[in-house]
Amino acid sequence: MQITLYQIVQAVLLGIILFYLIYYVWSVLFDKNYQPKDYQHSVKTGRVSIALRKLEKQYPDKVRFFNFWFQVERLKKEKVPGAFAELGVYKGDSAYLLHLMDSKRTFHLFDTFEGFQSSDLKHETGKAATYTTSNFADTSLEKVKKRLSDPEFIFHQGYFPDTTKGLEGEQYALVSMDADLYNPTKAGLEYFYPRLSPGGVIIVHDYNHEWPGIVKAVDDFAASIPEPVVPVADVDSSVMIFKTRKV
Ligand SMILES: C[S@@+](CC[C@H](N)C(=O)[O-])C[C@H]1O[C@@H](n2cnc3c(N)ncnc32)[C@H](O)[C@@H]1O
Repeated sequence: MQITLYQIVQAVLLGIILFYLIYYVWSVLFDKNYQPKDYQHSVKTGRVSIALRKLEKQYPDKVRFFNFWFQVERLKKEKVPGAFAELGVYKGDSAYLLHLMDSKRTFHLFDTFEGFQSSDLKHETGKAATYTTSNFADTSLEKVKKRLSDPEFIFHQGYFPDTTKGLEGEQYALVSMDADLYNPTKAGLEYFYPRLSPGGVIIVHDYNHEWPGIVKAVDDFAASIPEPVVPVADVDSSVMIFKTRKV
């Protein structure tokens, strides 16, 4: 029997499709086993909403997901007062996630909802130096408002930190900072840290060598506060800054 080139190509393609199918079924069946015991227990006792369980299954970075979850649970347990906030919202993925974890908190959302400012981009090195004002511009306030429509969400559209005017007296329990650049990260730490409740936490995303602006903003700020900067073993290396509790 003679095997044609067409049959070989067909067999190879079939093999590839089969491989990915098995890989997919395997990850659906077994990857979900990466769940910390306390999360599993909360699922069993009905304390995790169906929407959050669904999101957890799809979330690409399990460590980041569960780090958010453990921090939110800790804030509830320790009764840490204050709002949630995110600097760098884009289409609202992480804000939606955090809101599902605690839907009672007021949630301040800071973003231009139009992408980066050129005045911020011109200082950047590393990965951010490849950015233009078109990156992350494929969103809009209207679109994100539709997605994050619960009354807890308060939108602050515009250039950060200009959008903090009038929010000097605010108190925060958890802040997610994901603005990618030096200027907003520096300004975010300067604005949020003094307004962080005792026991509160700021989680800064992308503290790694690809984002030297973020590393510099965090390191410079860290030198001015008593608390250590705590690394997270998530894919993009977040760090956490806590405000010391009064005992
Ligand atoms: C990496 S994206 C945020 C991703 C988002 N956390 C998510 O869950 O998908 C970075 C965002 O920071 C915003 N941003 C960066 N610098 C800013 C500034 N100075 N003022 C307001 N928004 C800024 C950009 O508009 C962009 O939407």
